[in-house]
Amino acid sequence: MVPEKELKIGVALTQPEDWTAAAFVKNIERSGAQAVPLNLAQLSASLSSASCSVSDARSQPVDIDALIIRDVGISFALEQISFKFDLIRQLEAVVPVMNTSAAIQNAANKFYSFVLFQRAQLPIPRTQVTAELNVALNAIGAWGSAIVKPIFGSQGKGIVMLSEEEPNVSSNLEGLFKERGVLYIQEFVPNPGRDIRVFVVGEEALGAIYRVSLQGSVVSNLSQGGRPVPCALTGEIRSLAVRATKAVGADFAGVDLIEGEDGLLLLEVNGTPSGRGINQACGIDVTERIVASLFAQLL
Ligand SMILES: Nc1ncnc2c1ncn2[C@@H]1O[C@H](COP(=O)(O)OP(=O)(O)O)[C@@H](O)[C@H]1O
Ligand SMILES: [Mg+2]
Repeated sequence: MVPEKELKIGVALTQPEDWTAAAFVKNIERSGAQAVPLNLAQLSASLSSASCSVSDARSQPVDIDALIIRDVGISFALEQISFKFDLIRQLEAVVPVMNTSAAIQNAANKFYSFVLFQRAQLPIPRTQVTAELNVALNAIGAWGSAIVKPIFGSQGKGIVMLSEEEPNVSSNLEGLFKERGVLYIQEFVPNPGRDIRVFVVGEEALGAIYRVSLQGSVVSNLSQGGRPVPCALTGEIRSLAVRATKAVGADFAGVDLIEGEDGLLLLEVNGTPSGRGINQACGIDVTERIVASLFAQLL
């Protein structure tokens, strides 16, 4: 009898010691497949009229049956980040990839993801994206206080709170325009000093945590000192998180919600989320479910 070929599952990662990256590798191996760690920054592409092939850092062809993206890695050059996503696109033409390049890009883009959320009739805070100082000042004037975020940001970095009462709001905005060109300005949602991170795989919300902000901080990200606390899943949380995941086209996601005075609002969807916080707080290993859903596609 010919033994069945061992499945090889690529894991795009940059830090093998990262909890989520290591958990993907462990769960792939527990399923009897071989995990193939790949750093997208180290891949090369060879093209000719006859073929298009992708090779790894040792110039060996990337030989995988499926690919899970833990993280794409940081790139400061536009061409490098574009090449990484195009490598994922090329691999998508050949094998199943989770999440797809389109889903990760939709989710990472805080403007375009909000367009998708709005179309899907999901509740979002009022948001103004502009390169015009007057437009920015009018929005902040109408809302009282606002949060300015990078369009492509993560981990609560680069987030600034502005209030119409500040005497130097105009010069602060000018400084930000100089740095970023265009500003993503969102009404500040008064909240109980925490947000909700929900983990979704496929059509199911697996669990959620509150992330309690450090005293005096407007961001609740764990990397900014936020503390993970278990959060019970309600029907509303489940439904919003699953619909938001679907809106960006993701197979799995970490969805951020905030408890506004009039109900839950969606802040963002993360297409390459960390599974560590929810594992610490609730004992749930989301990577196990992601790997299982990939195998369900393959077999
Ligand atoms: N409109 C808002 N009102 C109040 N707090 C906000 C708002 N937007 C973001 N925050 C806080 O900032 C954190 C980071 O914002 P988020 O949009 O999730 O960006 P990031 O990609 O950096 O995580 C949120 O988890 C929340 O605590
Ligand atoms: Mg977030």
